[in-house]
Amino acid sequence: MPTPVPVTVLGATGTVGQRFVERLAQHPWFRIERLAASGRSAGKRYRDATAWRLPSEAWGGLGDEVLVAAEPGKTVSPVVFSALDADVAAELEPAYARAGALVFSNASAFRMEADVPLLVPEVNPDHLDLLSAQRKLRGWSGGIVCNANCTATVLVMALAPLHKRFGVEAVMMASMQAISGAGYPGVASLDITANVIPYIPKEEEKIEEEVPKMLGLLDGARIAPAAMAVSASCHRVAVVEGHTEAVAVQLRGTPSLDLVRAAWLTWSPEPQRLKLPSAPLVPVRIHDVADRPQPRLDVERDGGMSVHVGRLRACAILGVKFALLGHNTQRGAAGGSVLNAELAHARGLIA
Ligand SMILES: NC(=O)c1ccc[n+]([C@@H]2O[C@H](COP(=O)([O-])OP(=O)(O)OC[C@H]3O[C@@H](n4cnc5c(N)ncnc54)[C@H](OP(=O)(O)O)[C@@H]3O)[C@@H](O)[C@H]2O)c1
Repeated sequence: MPTPVPVTVLGATGTVGQRFVERLAQHPWFRIERLAASGRSAGKRYRDATAWRLPSEAWGGLGDEVLVAAEPGKTVSPVVFSALDADVAAELEPAYARAGALVFSNASAFRMEADVPLLVPEVNPDHLDLLSAQRKLRGWSGGIVCNANCTATVLVMALAPLHKRFGVEAVMMASMQAISGAGYPGVASLDITANVIPYIPKEEEKIEEEVPKMLGLLDGARIAPAAMAVSASCHRVAVVEGHTEAVAVQLRGTPSLDLVRAAWLTWSPEPQRLKLPSAPLVPVRIHDVADRPQPRLDVERDGGMSVHVGRLRACAILGVKFALLGHNTQRGAAGGSVLNAELAHARGLIA
């Protein structure tokens, strides 16, 4: 087996950072070299700075590691996973890319930059080719590869096979999003217990611009966004993990529900063909039981890396509608970023 690539996790103490540590502590291709967080945590042991909130081995077995500050030092790991908030990421991620690291980011800071891939390996693996244009343009020896907003990622996984087979013309989506999507400690318990909050700042705008970019076509040094109307309405609900989405979609040629189902069933994208370590065997799981998928019952399946569709039925307005579920901190965040890095590794982009 080849020597594992050393990696740094930025924001290792947070909700997404903990997911990174959990996944990378076991990873066959990557080895954690540094854990980094804010100046408040730097110098502390990981166990002392982090309220570990996952059911797996506490602190990924790395509780005695001493956290470092998130700024790049004299040397940087060849791969950096970033779970930083957008304002901090805007400053630090380019500093790592300049110093030679390939940064896999969860933050929104660079997602819509023309030369930055907004990557979901099942959906748009060729967008990774933007890296060479990015390096040329910015003079970086490293680079930045983003994953999308968690709700947009789950949505685009279900849309991609339909867009490829028929063409998506319009999408209306109403989300019911888990509390973990707001980070830790996130939403106050007094606000969310037995409640629904019909507003998540900047969420709807992100989904509406990121989905067409992800489904767009690589055109030299940029992505031509897919021509489709996307309308999103986002809600925070009292669920711990897993974003549920009520989706209605207008497809070119008004295909039957059987053809829609067949498009999901026969989808065989690149990560599954390459057998990348984090790729789920089945990227879109179809549920036939009338009241599924449900976050509590279904979201942890396949390590949280598949998405789930159910309740496929006719829509009187757009043609087709269905229920959709995906794991926000796995597929929508850390797991998605690790899969992005696996694709880059498989393509020889990581030294
Ligand atoms: N939660 C999700 O489902 C989800 C999904 C997709 C994308 N994202 C994105 O992922 C990123 C992290 O989200 P999260 O939910 O994990 O947030 P979080 O739980 O609040 O964690 C934030 C992390 O950033 C660190 N940090 C804060 N200020 C810093 C600074 N000035 N310098 C260096 N590090 C600093 C924190 O370290 P300290 O502990 O030292 O303060 C902590 O490790 C965000 O950009 C978010 O939008 C989240």
